[in-house]
Amino acid sequence: MYLTDAEQAVLDGESGEGAQKAMELVVALGKVYGAEGLVDITSAHLSGASYKTIGDGGLKYLRDMADGGAKVSVPSTLNPIGMDRDRWAEMHIGEDFAVKQNEIVRLYGAMGVRTTCSCTPYMGVNVPAKGDHIAWAESSALSYANSMLGARTNREGGPGALAAAIIGKTANYGLHLTENRRPTVVIDADIGDSLFEHSLLGQAVGMRIGGGIPYFRGIRPGPEEGKTMAAAMAAAGAVAMWHVEGVTPEAGDFDVSDLEVIHIGKEELKDAEEKVNTVDDVQLIALGCPHLTEREMHEIAMMLKGKKKRGDTEIWFCTSAAIRERCADDVKILEEFGPVLADTCMVVAPIEGTFSRTATNSCKAGNYLPTLCSQKVMCRDVAQLLKVIS
Ligand code: F3S
Repeated sequence: MYLTDAEQAVLDGESGEGAQKAMELVVALGKVYGAEGLVDITSAHLSGASYKTIGDGGLKYLRDMADGGAKVSVPSTLNPIGMDRDRWAEMHIGEDFAVKQNEIVRLYGAMGVRTTCSCTPYMGVNVPAKGDHIAWAESSALSYANSMLGARTNREGGPGALAAAIIGKTANYGLHLTENRRPTVVIDADIGDSLFEHSLLGQAVGMRIGGGIPYFRGIRPGPEEGKTMAAAMAAAGAVAMWHVEGVTPEAGDFDVSDLEVIHIGKEELKDAEEKVNTVDDVQLIALGCPHLTEREMHEIAMMLKGKKKRGDTEIWFCTSAAIRERCADDVKILEEFGPVLADTCMVVAPIEGTFSRTATNSCKAGNYLPTLCSQKVMCRDVAQLLKVIS
């Protein structure tokens, strides 16, 4: 693998131990995947932020990196952590967890990472441009960035993205190269307009094709539809990039006339829905996977306006701190039903200590709640879920 003199010097330790370790990891990954060299990145988005998912081993790794003087050299944002930093007690989280979680955030901050803690950085704080090379590690966010924005990233792991953030470079292979961004299958989608149907579409496509780069016809996703599809496809399969005819920035660059065509309609959506529904009554409804946007916050608030909370089922609204701040009027309405939580989500929070049956309107959460949180799951349209508590 070719390294410039400056890159070799970092590998030789001339920029300190933290940068050396980071370069070692990026070069090792590049060799595994056959990269010819490195490419400069404009931003990083890091996962591995929840104490629940990284544990004491991850905490030690971060401490070693921070103590070794590691600092990110490009704008870098962080995925959701295991709790709202101020309202963790409302999430039934104990102090031990909170102390360790806060330490993780502090260590990322010490390395220069912006501790915004959201899986939708592209909604405001970290928005790559078309053609930017980036190193992102949240499967839904990186799929959105590749597809809806035309930025270029592989499906990075947490340590790989942190290493890339430190040296400002990543290995140049996979989706960084134009030839690997070519569609592999055409999806003729015959679905309605709702967000939930877009989530089910992502689920159905992930289940059907596993990996590859689907090219959609028959839909016109906006930001919210795009984020929910990206999340579901990355969770039900391993899709990290997709195109939509007439919508996404690179869709017109490729000839798809020779590709296999798969039809996804009502029947396939029904199969997808069955796959992510395992229970009919729940203790918690958790909305915001990926994090709720301003439009979603407003729409949910309007559905609840003038109603009263009923029953014991809890409801959480998960979003970023910035969006919570911007939606003050809607937040007032939502808070009559349950907490509007920032920086966290139902999957990376330790909900299994309190709940065993959880509802969501996201197929991504529908896939992960059973495996990462030991939950039985109800996955429905948001309007249906709100009927449980209002
Ligand atoms: Fe985001 Fe958590 Fe879902 S990180 S995409 S809300 S599983």
